[in-house]
Amino acid sequence: MVKAVVLGASGGIGQPLSLLLKASPLIDELSLYDVVNTPGVAADLSHISSPAKITGYLPADDGLKKALTGADIVVIPAGIPRKPGMTRDDLFKVNAGIVQTLVKGIAEFSPKAFVLIISNPVNSTVPIAAEVLKAAGVFDPKRLFGVTTLDVVRAETFVQEYSGQKDPSQTTIPVVGGHSGDTIVPLFSQAKPAFEIPADKYDALVNRVQFGGDEVVKAKDGAGSATLSMAYAGFRFAESVIKAVKGTKGIVEPSFVYLPGVPGGEAISKTTGVEFFSVPIELGPEGVANAVNVLENTTETEKKLLEVAVKGLKTNIEKGIDFVKNTP
Ligand code: NAD
Ligand code: LMR
Repeated sequence: MVKAVVLGASGGIGQPLSLLLKASPLIDELSLYDVVNTPGVAADLSHISSPAKITGYLPADDGLKKALTGADIVVIPAGIPRKPGMTRDDLFKVNAGIVQTLVKGIAEFSPKAFVLIISNPVNSTVPIAAEVLKAAGVFDPKRLFGVTTLDVVRAETFVQEYSGQKDPSQTTIPVVGGHSGDTIVPLFSQAKPAFEIPADKYDALVNRVQFGGDEVVKAKDGAGSATLSMAYAGFRFAESVIKAVKGTKGIVEPSFVYLPGVPGGEAISKTTGVEFFSVPIELGPEGVANAVNVLENTTETEKKLLEVAVKGLKTNIEKGIDFVKNTP
């Protein structure tokens, strides 16, 4: 039996993500939580003839507790999105506190759940979540994931004209680092199946993956950021975690994790000099089964991109950790 919970379920990502989860045969129970509109969203989705039993909760009457109790997997897309001209870091002021509060709830009501953080800035909200879980004495790094799947999905899509794949999702591209601008590093040299990118197109392609989010923010012109592609990506990652828990072997998806606490992560953390970093993660019944060290075989150009990424990440990670230390 799998119970999935969406915190921030009434939002631009929350609604289509909840739709995909409700439609999934892998899920038996789905709880939706938000500060607004969850009764309506849950009532609407409850008419879909899939197996998952669905409930919607608001903060009143212990809603967070009721939503989280018995949860196996909790996905968090709660928080404000960007408008044109904003960086993800500009969201920190509002979203840091939202993520802290929700993860305190997880620590109390579903400490064994897999926690998937979508709320931006992911580079800081995941360290926030880790600190909250640590303070509560329930931190299992194998179960905490920053969702960077949208960067992977974008990379797969944007290279299609070079990969020649009819189905772009059949190309595997490790995208490592963090989830904002130049902290995102696509390792095209390790794409499978391999393909050539013309030298004069490489920089633009890297830039498009790094700033794909800005492309959507600009096109939406004040109405928010990526929601539908994010729901697809968030569902893909959640589904991978659930399939691995149910015994499917060999599922690998990049994710932003606390490296020193996961199998295979310590060596990567020593190489990068940061503790939180996105690398391909082999998933298993306990969550992270192995962090795959793809940093050994990078090209000189990729090494330079990684140096820039690590610099930005250090600041973002510290900011998240300091926030919890100063706002316990
Ligand atoms: P949105 O404003 O449409 O939805 C956010 C939802 O969160 C709203 O329904 C709101 O009521 C709810 N919320 C606010 N405070 C809450 C709380 N304390 N508890 C529960 N729910 C709460 O925004 P969106 O477009 O869905 O984006 C949500 C977040 O996801 C943003 O921070 C955005 O930057 C981020 N995002 C991340 C990625 C990624 O790749 N990781 C991609 C896209 C968007
Ligand atoms: C994205 O990559 O689309 C998200 O992180 C949202 C954003 O702010 O760009």
